[in-house]
Formats: sequence, C-alpha cells, structure tokens
Amino acid sequence: MKLILLGAPGSGKGTMAQKLTAALDIPQISTGDIFRKNLKEETPLGLQVKSIMASGALVPDEITIEIVKNRLAEDDCQKGYILDGFPRSIAQAKALDGFQQVDYAVNLDVDKEVVVKRLSGRRFCPDCSGTYHVSALSDETVCPHCGGKLIIRADDAEETVRERQRVYESTTLPLLEYYDKQGKLLTVDGNGTVEEVYDRILAALK
Ligand code: AP5
Ligand code: MG
Repeated sequence: MKLILLGAPGSGKGTMAQKLTAALDIPQISTGDIFRKNLKEETPLGLQVKSIMASGALVPDEITIEIVKNRLAEDDCQKGYILDGFPRSIAQAKALDGFQQVDYAVNLDVDKEVVVKRLSGRRFCPDCSGTYHVSALSDETVCPHCGGKLIIRADDAEETVRERQRVYESTTLPLLEYYDKQGKLLTVDGNGTVEEVYDRILAALK
C-alpha cells in the first residue's frame, strides 16, 4: 500500500506512521526525519536546511522532491511506503504524481488545542527518530526504544510552532482538496488516544 499521511504539525503523523510501518511492513518516509538526521550529522544538506527548519519555514520544493524521488526508487519502497510530511505543497504533490501513484492520502483531523498540548510535551530521539509524549514516559530523558538521550525538538519552541501552523494553513491545507478531487482522501478524527486514532485509520483503509 502506498500512503500519504497529512495533518497539521503535531497531529500525529509520525506516531501513526511508526505504528503503520510495523503493522504493514512498509517503510516510513519522513522528510522531517531525513532533514533532522542530516542536521545531526552536519552534512551539506543539514547545514543548508538548519536555519530554514529553525524558523518553521519549508525547505525549498526542488530539494525536497529530489530527496523523496530518490528514496522511493529504493528497493524497500517497491511494495509500498508511508509518506510522513511529504507532500506539503501543491508543487510537491504534482511532482509526486509524476513519478508515483499513491493509493490514499490519510488526513489526521485534530483540534487546535489538542495539537498544542501534544507538541508542548513531545520528546524526540535523535538516534532512532522515536517520538514520544512525556505523559507516556517513565523517564523523560531516555528513549524507551534504543536508550538514546531524548531531546525537545528546536522547532517545538512556541513561536516556531505558530509559524509552522501558519505555513501549514497557507501551503499544505490545499492538499486536502487536491486529493479529494482525485478520490484518494480519507479524513480520520485524530483526537483521542494513540490506539483510538490508529484503529480509525485501519478501519478507514479497509
Ligand atoms: P516535520 O518533522 O514533518 O514536522 P511537522 O509536519 O510539523 O509535524 P510534526 O513532526 O511536528 O508532527 P507529527 O504530525 O508528526 O506529530 P507526532 O506524531 O510527532 O517537519 C519539520 C520541518 O522539516 C518543517 O517545518 C520543514 O522545515 C521541514 N520539512 C519536512 N518535510 C518537508 C517538506 N515536505 N517540504 C518542505 N520542508 C519540509 O506527535 C506529536 C506529539 O503528540 C508527540 O509527542 C506524540 O507522542 C503525541 N501524540 C501523537 N498522537 C497522539 C495521540 N493520539 N494521543 C496523545 N498523544 C499523541
Ligand atoms: Mg513528525
């Protein structure tokens, strides 16, 4: 299955992708995680995107499209994948249509105040890209998956979150209509517990 996960910053795309990737045995392709890995390793790409990500803006389409195109050409993506955080502009969606045919775009619809609560308690593991919420962690500093040191993402600062939300509304939201017109949009209520949302996604995909 070839899936796109759509939704505002903090709606739960990464959390749901991590569960789906295990259940469906297809890779999670998170452009945000790819950029964060490059930042951590201080590659030329990492240095290029550092200030853009810190501001909450989007990395230029041509850079992002090229990365995803190359990644989806790899062997492990041939039977399917979960795109988490791509596409997020009409230009990216049109480019994707040029080299891949996805089955569904799942939109996680979450109330604004819920998203704020989720992002303010998020912890991230730079070693394995695991994403958690403090409410579900016995130790806020240690990754329960790999033992790495958990951090607060730099772009979870209040002002940057506001900018990411603004960019989402102006540039990414039009994708809902884009995929609806293609008959591929599945909107799922993203409020509720991780298990509740996950079950709704599985039900929508059946
Ligand atoms: P990216 O990493 O994609 O960030 P985002 O889209 O803003 O989304 P988030 O990762 O913040 O949220 P999420 O929906 O994954 O939620 P999560 O599962 O973590 O992008 C970062 C930056 O990279 C961009 O700003 C941009 O600069 C650049 N970039 C990336 N892709 C790009 C592209 N295509 N084009 C251009 N630039 C790009 O959940 C949030 C929290 O809530 C966690 O703590 C989680 O544990 C918790 N949680 C999740 N679900 C639930 C639930 N049901 N109940 C309780 N808690 C929950
Ligand atoms: Mg994410």
